[in-house]
Amino acid sequence: MLKNRFLLVNAIALITMMNISCGGRHDAAGSEAVLNTIATRVSVRSYQDKAIDSATIEKLLRAGMAAPSARNLQPWHFIAVTDKTLLQALADGNSHASMLAGAPLAIVVCGNMDKAGGLDMWIQDCAAAAENILLAAHAMGLGAVWTANHPYADRMEVTSEVLHLPQNIVPFCVIPIGYPDGNEAPKDKWNPENVTYNAFADGTAG
Ligand SMILES: Cc1cc2nc3c(=O)[nH]c(=O)nc-3n(C[C@H](O)[C@H](O)[C@H](O)COP(=O)(O)O)c2cc1C
Repeated sequence: MLKNRFLLVNAIALITMMNISCGGRHDAAGSEAVLNTIATRVSVRSYQDKAIDSATIEKLLRAGMAAPSARNLQPWHFIAVTDKTLLQALADGNSHASMLAGAPLAIVVCGNMDKAGGLDMWIQDCAAAAENILLAAHAMGLGAVWTANHPYADRMEVTSEVLHLPQNIVPFCVIPIGYPDGNEAPKDKWNPENVTYNAFADGTAG
């Protein structure tokens, strides 16, 4: 009898633990938090003069590496740049990324051609990783913006030169990251005109 009660208590504890560990993926509050992070992310191009600690940098990198990739090849390489001289050089070489000069950190998302399996899908894979980093940054109270490298040969060349990239490492984008210096408002991009259901049809949504 005592043994049965012991087993029952253990079973209840196990189920509770499973609910807690798996529930993080499905509980309403967690879902709302994720959806809110996605909906309120905004490109941030102005940053406070405040360093980002290494634990936070690792969380950003982990978010990038958590992205899906074709055949799970993970054909990427990430370079976390905190050196002010390098950040300035990257900014000087790309007028579309001048905000790098004022950022305490940039994560350069690169494709690793040695891991790409001869596919061009490293591009989609790196894009997924970049978006994960943007969302993780926003979730942690940081601001970030995607600045393009690929497919602009001139921008890729600047990054390759400044960071001494070997030939197999192709810079995909550079993400300046910092604590926001301001209050950028997210854009509401929901547009039912961009949706149809089941077929392209006559544009009728729903
Ligand atoms: C592929 C891609 C390339 C981009 N390149 C740049 C860039 O070089 N410089 C820049 O300031 N913003 C760049 N952006 C950021 C966009 O301008 C920004 O995402 C867009 O205006 C929508 O604003 P939001 O991110 O605040 O929603 C890029 C975004 C994407 C997805």
